Amino acid sequence: MSGKAILDYDGKKVELDAVIGTENEVGLDITKLRAQTGLITLDPGFANTGSCKSDITFINGEKGILRYRGYAIEELAEKSSFLETAYLVLYGYLPSQKELNEFDAGIADEAELHTSMKSHFEGFPDQAPPMAILSSMLNTLACYNPELLTTTYEGEAFDTAVAKIMSKVRTIAAWSYRASRGKSYMAPSPSVSYCGNFLHMMFSRPFDLYEIKPEVEKAIDLFFLLHTDHEQNCSTSTVRIAGSSHVNLFTSVAAGVGALWGPLHGGANAAVIAMLENIHKNGIKLSDYVDAAKDKTNDTKLMGFGHRVYKNFDPRARILKTQVDNVLRALKIDDPLLNIARELEEVALSDEYFIERNLYPNVDFYSGILLKAIGIPVNMFTVMFAIGRMPGWIANWREMLSHNQRISRPRQIYTGENLRPYVPVVKR
Ligand code: ACO
Repeated sequence: MSGKAILDYDGKKVELDAVIGTENEVGLDITKLRAQTGLITLDPGFANTGSCKSDITFINGEKGILRYRGYAIEELAEKSSFLETAYLVLYGYLPSQKELNEFDAGIADEAELHTSMKSHFEGFPDQAPPMAILSSMLNTLACYNPELLTTTYEGEAFDTAVAKIMSKVRTIAAWSYRASRGKSYMAPSPSVSYCGNFLHMMFSRPFDLYEIKPEVEKAIDLFFLLHTDHEQNCSTSTVRIAGSSHVNLFTSVAAGVGALWGPLHGGANAAVIAMLENIHKNGIKLSDYVDAAKDKTNDTKLMGFGHRVYKNFDPRARILKTQVDNVLRALKIDDPLLNIARELEEVALSDEYFIERNLYPNVDFYSGILLKAIGIPVNMFTVMFAIGRMPGWIANWREMLSHNQRISRPRQIYTGENLRPYVPVVKR
């Protein structure tokens, strides 16, 4: 299938080629529009704008489909692991056992931080937000790896940068938590898994090793896997935009952390817990809360509901919902917030406002409860998301460079004052 669209404006006609993806998504190619007509398109928030062609992730928001490199998220969640899925997203194919072992070993080797990085952690005040520490420290890694400050997106140098970032992000994340609590730093263990090591660095105490329960290790692995990539979301687009200036990978992913921090993006799972706690502590009737979320005269939203792309259901939310039950059962936790979440979901899903607007629970609706049950503090939730999203950011940075993409530089429609003369301060 191919096609063209005709744009007819003010007597000028332009033919726009249709670009068709492998899942038959159609985009109109406007790359020559301005050169041919002087026109640009206006799409604040980019809801109708394809910023790139990509082979990494496919989403069909209407049907609730999410696939990494052609593999269904449900199948990966059941059969794969975070590191195997990370390899798939980064390199485009499922690794052989040998490739996977080498990838695992490369990451395990890089878990330690340069000893002088400790002094950077010590420079942050108590209560410093872990996301701010994470972003700063990922950028700081650039200072320790000057030989990797390139746009190399394949070969040994790229693989080394991947191993360093994927591995050290866990250490930085765990240490940022410890720094924010004034606790001593726990060195990585050489004998535990990727997720087990993260839990160890978070929760072990000197001479008192944290017991890594298989259910918890599995739940963290699944949480990371479900967050591995999500095509051109706010933080991934930020990574691509930053990287398009040919800045290095460390700085590009640090920019992604900043974008992810906001409550409308990665910060939503923490906002969900705050919402559920508010309802619980203050005994708010669920129907009253839902009414407030519908009322446009205030800022209340049903956090963890709605998505820019998913308009039917978020497949990640379905998978996590089941996982939450398993973890709470294994840890013998009876969390009243989970019951509130379940009831709130029911109330909202039968409400005309949410039905009409196709608003369903997104991945954040249940992930907060899962993380809370494991003992992850709320201000670390978005950090957890960042660890999981790292392979997706790196894969997008890589793809952007391999496609030789131009620097990202959107246009605007200027709506300010026309030319006016400067008025000296005494005359204003
Ligand atoms: N609560 C109440 N109303 C909502 C909600 C919500 N959570 N989400 C959307 N709406 C309303 C909008 O106000 C809008 O109403 P209107 O048509 O009367 O003006 C309508 O639903 C349609 O909104 P969308 O265009 O679908 O929203 P948009 O794409 O701009 O934003 C977003 C998507 C930011 C996720 C939004 O749904 C939201 O703020 N949700 C709560 C925050 C959240 O859970 N974020 C996590 C997203 S997933 C992720 O980043 C991993």
